[in-house]
Amino acid sequence: MQRVNRQIILTEKPQEKLSLANFALAEGEVPAPGEGEALVRTRYISLDAANRAWMQGVTYRAALSSGEVMAGGALAEVVESRDPSLAPGDIVSAETGWQDYAALPAKRLSKLPKMAPLTHLLSVYGVTGLTAYLGLLRVGDPKPGETVVVSAAAGAVGSIAAQVAKLKGARAIGIAGGAEKCGWLTDTLGLDAAVDYKAGDVRRQLRGLCPDGIDVYFDNVGGDVFEAALFNMANHGRVVCCGAVSQYDKAPPPHGPRGVPGLIVTKRLKVEGFVVMDFYDGRDAALDQLRTWVESGQLKVQEDIIDGFEKLPAALIGLLAGENRGKRMVKVD
Ligand SMILES: NC(=O)c1ccc[n+]([C@@H]2O[C@H](COP(=O)([O-])OP(=O)(O)OC[C@H]3O[C@@H](n4cnc5c(N)ncnc54)[C@H](OP(=O)(O)O)[C@@H]3O)[C@@H](O)[C@H]2O)c1
Repeated sequence: MQRVNRQIILTEKPQEKLSLANFALAEGEVPAPGEGEALVRTRYISLDAANRAWMQGVTYRAALSSGEVMAGGALAEVVESRDPSLAPGDIVSAETGWQDYAALPAKRLSKLPKMAPLTHLLSVYGVTGLTAYLGLLRVGDPKPGETVVVSAAAGAVGSIAAQVAKLKGARAIGIAGGAEKCGWLTDTLGLDAAVDYKAGDVRRQLRGLCPDGIDVYFDNVGGDVFEAALFNMANHGRVVCCGAVSQYDKAPPPHGPRGVPGLIVTKRLKVEGFVVMDFYDGRDAALDQLRTWVESGQLKVQEDIIDGFEKLPAALIGLLAGENRGKRMVKVD
């Protein structure tokens, strides 16, 4: 076992855009697990848009502080266990942070089935897939024939949410940045249409594609795209507030989107936020359904795997800039 524990420290929280200067590489000791704990080695570290939101303040978890090991979830392997529920070689999902090793209480480690590829445990069978599936179906509740619009549709959560909408018989439209991503959404994922939000007036593009209005809008981005969707909602439409990535990597905007609350009232909209853990009573059934679709080839899983621990900061900055297609993660070398 290597003696050094490489760590990436969030040296200073960003005031505006996240940059490499906000991080530093450090070397710590490999910790010794206490009674009831396990020592785990990270194999794949998940990159999530939310990593940046945690730097802004309290979310569904405590805010990050400067000087700490950067927080993050990972797929990890048990190296040593001082708890009977875990043994060396077990694969777990854990909040390890950005480091090679972590000693954590066994009750905070979820043992996962071994599968190939292992990375699917972070993408379609992890928080990403569950957020897309449970958020869309529990909050959005799309009916066959309805029109569903998903933003950040070429990203991790969005690419699955949009495909689930289609598999449930809805008409699915994705919003993404750039012609290449939009072409991938229609040609490879089979969505009915795609809107390039970088190519001009999103509100007008949506109006052309959704003459009868949007029944379900799955919002990953907030801001101007949220506003454009709001103006195109059908009466009694549902807005699924999953996240607001357009707001994470900058100072808070001076004002919110237009149409709130006026359009919510006149169009009788249901606008509901959720955190995936709220729906974990439906987790096993969701995983069964996702597995069936993946194994039958009906649901495509797109992963964006970057090799090399030291690339973590650049990988997160790149995710916020839209470099990724599908679920981004870093393979720890
Ligand atoms: N509620 C929950 O329980 C829960 C759980 C997990 C994730 N989430 C949320 O799900 C969303 C997606 O997260 P993810 O981790 O899967 O990331 P992701 O979608 O894989 O990556 C983020 C994407 O956001 C897009 N983006 C960046 N800036 C944008 C802007 N200003 N306007 C529009 N799009 C922009 C980029 O794609 P383009 O090239 O298209 O710009 C980028 O690829 C986030 O809002 C996250 O907070 C919520």
